[in-house]
Amino acid sequence: MASFTLSPPCFAFSSSSSSSSSPLFFSAPSQLLAHKKRNQTRLRVSCKANNPNNSTDDAAASPGSRIIDRRNVLLGLGGLYGVANLAGGPIASAADVDVAIHYPNVSKCHYPSDVPANADITGTCCPPVPTDTVLDYQIPTGGPMRKRVPAQFATQEYINKYEAALTAMKNLDPSHPHSFPQQANIHCAYCNGGYQQFGFPTEEIQVHNSWLFFPFHRWYLYFYEKILGKLINDPTFALPYWNWDNQSGMTMPNMFMSTTSSLYDANRNPNYLPPAIVDLNYAGKDRGLSDEELIAENLVAVYRSMVTNGGTTELFMGKKYVTGTPPSPGQGSVEGIPHTPVHRWVGDSVDQPNGEDMGNFYSAGRDPLFYSHHANVDRMWVIWQKLLGGKDFTDDSWLNASFLFYDENEQPVRVYAKDCMDNIAMGYDYEYSSLPWLKSKPSPSKTTGAAAASNAPFVTDVFPVTLDKVVQVKVSRPKTSRTKAEKEKEEEVLVIDGIEVAMDQYARFDVYLNDSDQPDGGKDKAQYAGGFAHLPHKQESSSTTKTSVRLGLNEPLEDLGAEDDDTVLVTLAPQVGGGVVDVDSIRIEYSTR
Ligand code: C2O
Repeated sequence: MASFTLSPPCFAFSSSSSSSSSPLFFSAPSQLLAHKKRNQTRLRVSCKANNPNNSTDDAAASPGSRIIDRRNVLLGLGGLYGVANLAGGPIASAADVDVAIHYPNVSKCHYPSDVPANADITGTCCPPVPTDTVLDYQIPTGGPMRKRVPAQFATQEYINKYEAALTAMKNLDPSHPHSFPQQANIHCAYCNGGYQQFGFPTEEIQVHNSWLFFPFHRWYLYFYEKILGKLINDPTFALPYWNWDNQSGMTMPNMFMSTTSSLYDANRNPNYLPPAIVDLNYAGKDRGLSDEELIAENLVAVYRSMVTNGGTTELFMGKKYVTGTPPSPGQGSVEGIPHTPVHRWVGDSVDQPNGEDMGNFYSAGRDPLFYSHHANVDRMWVIWQKLLGGKDFTDDSWLNASFLFYDENEQPVRVYAKDCMDNIAMGYDYEYSSLPWLKSKPSPSKTTGAAAASNAPFVTDVFPVTLDKVVQVKVSRPKTSRTKAEKEKEEEVLVIDGIEVAMDQYARFDVYLNDSDQPDGGKDKAQYAGGFAHLPHKQESSSTTKTSVRLGLNEPLEDLGAEDDDTVLVTLAPQVGGGVVDVDSIRIEYSTR
C-alpha cells in the first residue's frame, strides 16, 4: 500500500452508484458526502477548516509522502482510512473527481515552468519554505475596520503612510518572507507553474483562468495589507484601490508616479504615464480614440463584465478547477476584461522583452501598482455580491480550495476560499466611489435577421480554426423566443471552447454578434459581446491544455432584436500580437443562475 497521507484536516470519501449508502472510505471523524452523478464513483474531500487539533501539515512537512497519480491518491486515501480493496474497483476519470485544489507542497517549489526563456528571475521565484508548522488561519475578530481608499483621492498623509510601510517592506532582508521581492514571488510561484497539484506532479497549480482567481487574489492582498500595517504599527492601514471604473480614476494613480517614491516602479509603459487614459479593452496598441471616447468605452466595458457577462456564478467567477484536472479551464468575466488588459497596458512592452513588470504574470507583483489594481478587481467581487446579487459557488471543491501564505506574524498559514467570501468578516471594506458604469449599457441597435441573411458558414463546418484572420460563422440557438421568466432563470451563454494560446505573447481576440464581417472595433455597441484576454503565460502541458471563454447573450440578443432568430452570427476578430493559435468550437448553452 502506498504510504500516502492527506493533509490532516481533509477527509476523503467516495460513494459508488451501485450502493450509494456504502462509502468506500470512511473513518472517524468522517463526514460522508454521498454524491451520485452520472453513475460513476465520485470522490469528495471535506476539509474541516480551523481545526486546532490538526495543525500539523504533512504536505509541507513530509513532501516525500506525496505520490504521483490519481490512482495512487485513491490507494493512498484508502490506506489512510483503512480500506484496502480499491485496486480493482472503478477509478473515475480525473475530470470526474471533485477534490478541491489543495495548497501546494511549497518545499517542492521549482523554477517556474511557465515563463519566457529570457525572464528576469534569479534562482527561482519560490517564497521561503516554512520551517514552522503550518496552521489553519483564523481571521481575528474585534479589530478596527480597514478602509481601502480610492487612490486618486488619497490624502498626502495617507500617501506618506503607504510610502513608509512599503519602504520598510523593501528594506527587509530579501530572504524575509515579508520582503517585497518575496511578496512578488508569491504571485510568480502560484501563477507561473512553480507549484504542482497535491498528488499530481504533472499538473501545475494555476490561480488564473478559473474559479480560483478571486479567492486567491483576495487572500494574497489580505496578507500583503496586514504585513504593511504591521510594519508601521498601524492595524487600520488599508490599501488604496485603483478606481479605473470611474472616470476620476482612469489614469495610473499619481501616488505611484514619483521616481523617488517606494511606490514607484520603472517598468511601466512610458507612453501611458498620466495623463494617458487607461484602455480597459487594451489589445496591445493604441486605437486612436479621444479621451472622451475611451472613457465611454471603459464604462461600457465595466458594465459588460459586471452585468451582461456576469449573470451567473460561473460567468463571473470562472470555470470549475479541481485537483487532477489541467489548469486554466476558463476565465471569469472581470478576469478577462478589464483585469488582463489593464496588466498589459501598464507593463512596459516598449523597453522590456516580456511586458515586465505588470504585463507578465511572473513579474506583475514587482510593481506596487499591482496591489491597487487587484484591490479594485476585488472590489468588483464585493459589488457583484452586494449590489448585483451575485452568489458565490457552493461546491465543496471551491469552498475547500486552499492556499498557503505567511501572516503578518511570519506564521505560515493555510487559508480556504470559504473563509474569504465576506470582506467585512475579513476586517476590510471599500470607501465609496460612485459607479457611473451602472448606467453605461452598450447602445442597442437592431440587427434582426442578420444571421439568416449572411452567407457565413455554420460553425460546425469551419471549426476548429486557426485564428490568424477574422472568422465569421453562424451558430445555432437551441432555444428561441424564450419568455422573460425563462430568461430570468437561465442565461444564454456563448461558449468559445478549446482556445489554444501561443507561449509568450499577449493573446487577445474580440467577439462580435450579428455584425458586418470586418467589425470596426467600436466597443460600446451591443454588437460587441466581449473578448478573450490572456497574459503571456505558457503551461507545462501546453500541447494539450486549452482554455475557454463564456459570454452572456441574454442582454445583447435583446438589444439586437435577435431573440426570435434561430441563429446568431458570431465574429472572432484576433487582435495585435496574434497570441491565440487555434479555437476548437463555438456553441450556445444555457446556464442556470
Ligand atoms: Cu494574479 Cu492580475 O494577476
